Amino acid sequence: MTAKILDGKAVATELRQQMAKRVQQRLAQGRRAPGLAVILVGENPASLVYVRNKRKACEELGFIAKDYDLPATTTQAELLAILDQLNTDPSVDGILVQLPLPAHIDPNTVIERIVPHKDVDGFHPYNIGRLALKMPLLRPCTPKGVMTLLAKTGIDLVGQNAVVIGQSNIVGRPMALELLAARCTVTICHSRTRDLIAQTRQADILVVAVGQAELVKGDWIKSNAIVIDVGMNRLSTGKLVGDVEFTSCQARASWITPVPGGVGPMTIASLLENTLEVAETSGT
Ligand code: GUN
Repeated sequence: MTAKILDGKAVATELRQQMAKRVQQRLAQGRRAPGLAVILVGENPASLVYVRNKRKACEELGFIAKDYDLPATTTQAELLAILDQLNTDPSVDGILVQLPLPAHIDPNTVIERIVPHKDVDGFHPYNIGRLALKMPLLRPCTPKGVMTLLAKTGIDLVGQNAVVIGQSNIVGRPMALELLAARCTVTICHSRTRDLIAQTRQADILVVAVGQAELVKGDWIKSNAIVIDVGMNRLSTGKLVGDVEFTSCQARASWITPVPGGVGPMTIASLLENTLEVAETSGT
C-alpha cells in the first residue's frame, strides 16, 4: 500500500488559526497578549533558523515575543540572572532557551532555573516527572506535536507496539512517555540496541529521532505501520531529508510524515499551545 501523508504543515496551520482566535478573544476582553521570551546564546546556524521561525510564529498569532540574542561569550551567571528576571515578569508566560548552549554553560542548570509553570519547552525535571506520572502539565513540544498528528490518523493507540529510535531528553524519552501514557507497548532503541531492524519490524508505530539521514529503509517497516520522522538532515546536495528513506517507507506504511512539512511545524504549534495555555490560566 502507499501510505497517506500526515500533513503536519496543514494541521499546524489549522491549530494556529484556532489559537489566533483565542488570542483575539483575550484582547477583546481587555486581557494582555500572551508573552514568550525566546533566548538564543551564540550563533549556531540551525538554532538561528529555529528561533527565527518560533519568533515569527508568535508574532503572527498576536503573541509578544521578547527576544534575547546573547553573544556566545555570555556567562552562565548572566544567563541565570536573565532567567530570574523573566521568572517573575508578569508579562512573560513562557520562557524558552534554545539548545544547544555553548559548552561553558550547563544546560541542566539552565533548564532547572526556569520556573516549571513557565517552562513551555516542557524540559524541566518537574514537567518531565509530571509526564512520567501521567499527570502532565507543560509537555515537551515535539512529542506533543507527534501525539496530535497520531490523533489525526483516527487509529486507536491502545495496545499498539510503539518503537522510538532515539533517547534524547528533547524527543526520544518524552516521546516514549507520551506513547506509554496513551497505553502503547513502548520500546526505546538507541545506538547500543543489538538488532535494530528486528525492533523496527515489530512496530505498529515507529518514531525516528536520531539525526541520521535516511537511516530507516522500507524493509525495516512492518506493513501498514505509522511512520513518524522527526529527523531534519541537510544532504551535501542541499536537499533536506529526514531520518527515514521516504519513498521506500511510504510503499509499506499506512501513514507517514514528510520532511519538511511533517513534525517540524507541529513542534512550533505545540510551543504556541503551551504558551497560550499558561497565559489563559494566569488570570492576567
Ligand atoms: N533544540 C532543538 N529542539 C529544541 C526545542 O524544541 N527547544 C529548545 N529550546 N531547543 C531545541
